[in-house]
Amino acid sequence: MPDTPFLTIDLDRVRANYRAVRAALPEATVYYAVKANPAPEIIRLLVSLSYGNTIKKAADVAFAHRLGVRRFSFDAADDLENLGRLAPDSVAACRFLVDAPASGTPFGRKFGCAPDEAIRLLSRAADLGLRPALCFHVGSQQCDIRAWTTGMTQASGIAKALSSKGIRLESINLGGGFPVAYRDPVPSLAECAAAIRSGLDPSLPPLAIEPGRVIVASAGTIHASVVSVAERDRRWVYLDIGRYNGLAETENEYIPYRLTTSHPSTPDGPVVIAGPTCDGDDVLYQHTPYRLPLALSAGDRVDIHDVGAYTASYSSVSFNGIPPLPTYFTGAPTGTFAGRHVLAELHGIEPAALDDLDFLSETLQRTLKQAGATVCDVVSKRFEPQGVTVLALLAESHASVHTYPERGSMFVDVFTCGPHADPAEAVRLLGEALSASRVVSQTVHRGQS
Ligand SMILES: Cc1ncc(COP(=O)(O)O)c(C=O)c1O
Repeated sequence: MPDTPFLTIDLDRVRANYRAVRAALPEATVYYAVKANPAPEIIRLLVSLSYGNTIKKAADVAFAHRLGVRRFSFDAADDLENLGRLAPDSVAACRFLVDAPASGTPFGRKFGCAPDEAIRLLSRAADLGLRPALCFHVGSQQCDIRAWTTGMTQASGIAKALSSKGIRLESINLGGGFPVAYRDPVPSLAECAAAIRSGLDPSLPPLAIEPGRVIVASAGTIHASVVSVAERDRRWVYLDIGRYNGLAETENEYIPYRLTTSHPSTPDGPVVIAGPTCDGDDVLYQHTPYRLPLALSAGDRVDIHDVGAYTASYSSVSFNGIPPLPTYFTGAPTGTFAGRHVLAELHGIEPAALDDLDFLSETLQRTLKQAGATVCDVVSKRFEPQGVTVLALLAESHASVHTYPERGSMFVDVFTCGPHADPAEAVRLLGEALSASRVVSQTVHRGQS
C-alpha cells in the first residue's frame, strides 16, 4: 500500500459513467472535458479531439491545429481572428453566456459573450472561412436543470438570427455541468437530458456535450490520513490532503465531499477539517457541518469519495514541500494474456547523458508514465569506467536501458501487458527526450493478441 495521500481511479467505473451519459443523451456526440482529469489512462479510454477553452494564446491554437484539432471554442473577437489565421477550416464554436442560476462551482462572468455579440462574431467566423458553431456551459455541478432549458432557448434565438443571414450552424456543444451526488441527492442524467430536450427546436443544429465531472468523479477515491487532532475553539482535524494537493474544489466549501474513516459507527462530534500546509486558506470545511468520530487520532485513515474529477489535475507541484497527488488505476481489463515487447537501439546520443544515472532514471520514468505505464520501482547502477543500467518495475511488467556512452548508443527494452501502456510510444518518447538521431526498434507481440 503506498503512503497516503493518494488517489485511486477505477477505469471500469469511468467506462460505465461514459456509457450512462451516452445512454441518457444518445442524440448528442459526447466529448470528454480533459481538464477534469487528464491522466493518459483515462484519455485512452475516451479519446476525443476538441479545444474547449476560450482562453488561449495564438501559439496554442497553431500547435493544436498542427496536432489535428479542428474544433475550437471562442468568445472574443481577437481569439476568433487567431482561429481564422491559424486554424483554417476548423469548427469555431462561439460560447455565449447563459442566463442561468449559479452552479456548485460558478464560472461567474469569466466566459461567454452576450447573444447579440455571438451573432456578430459568428457572421465574422463565416467570413473568415471557419465553420460557425455554438457552445455554452451552465456551470459545473449544476443542480438546477432549468439552466439547460434556458441555454437551449437562448441558443435557438441565436441560430434563428444567423439563419436569416444565410449562416448555418454546424453544431451546438452544451459543455458539461452534469452534477454528482457528493453528500446530497442531485438531478439524474435523465432529468438533465429531459431539460435539454425541452429546449430543443428545429432551428438548432446537432448536439454535442463535453462532460468531465460526471464521467470521472465517482471513479475516484482519495486515501488520506489524519496528521493531528487539536481541541481549540472547536475540534480541528488536520489531514495530509488539502486545498493545495488535490482538494482545490473545497475553495469556498463549494464541493462537500463524503468522508469515511477507520472508526465507522462510533460516537462522533462536529469538526473543522483542515489541510496540511502552512497556508491559512488551507481549511477544507469550517462552515459546512461535518462530524467525525471522537476516537479519530493521528495516523488514522480517512477516505474521501467521488474525487476522480478536479483533484489530481489541481494538485500543486510542491507547495510547502508537499508532492503532487499520485494516482493509481484499477479496473484494467483482466484475463487477456497478451503483451507487447519493444526491443530498441537508440543511437547518436550525447555521451554525457548516457553516463548520467539520475538523468536516465528520471527520463525513463517520465517517458514510461507518459506512455501510460505505472512505474512501481526503479533501480539503477553505474559501471566503471562508464555506462549505466536502469531497470523499471512496472505494474504492466518491466522496462530497462543499458548505455554505451563511448558509442553514443543504448539498448532499450520495454515489455508491457494489457492495453493501457504503449511500449512503442515509451521508446519513441525516450528517443525524443535523449535527442537520439536514430532509433531502430522491433515489436514482439506475446500471448494472445
Ligand atoms: C469548456 C468546458 N467544457 C466542459 C467542462 C466540463 O464541465 P463538467 O466537469 O461540469 O462536466 C468545463 C469545466 O468546467 C469547461 O470549462
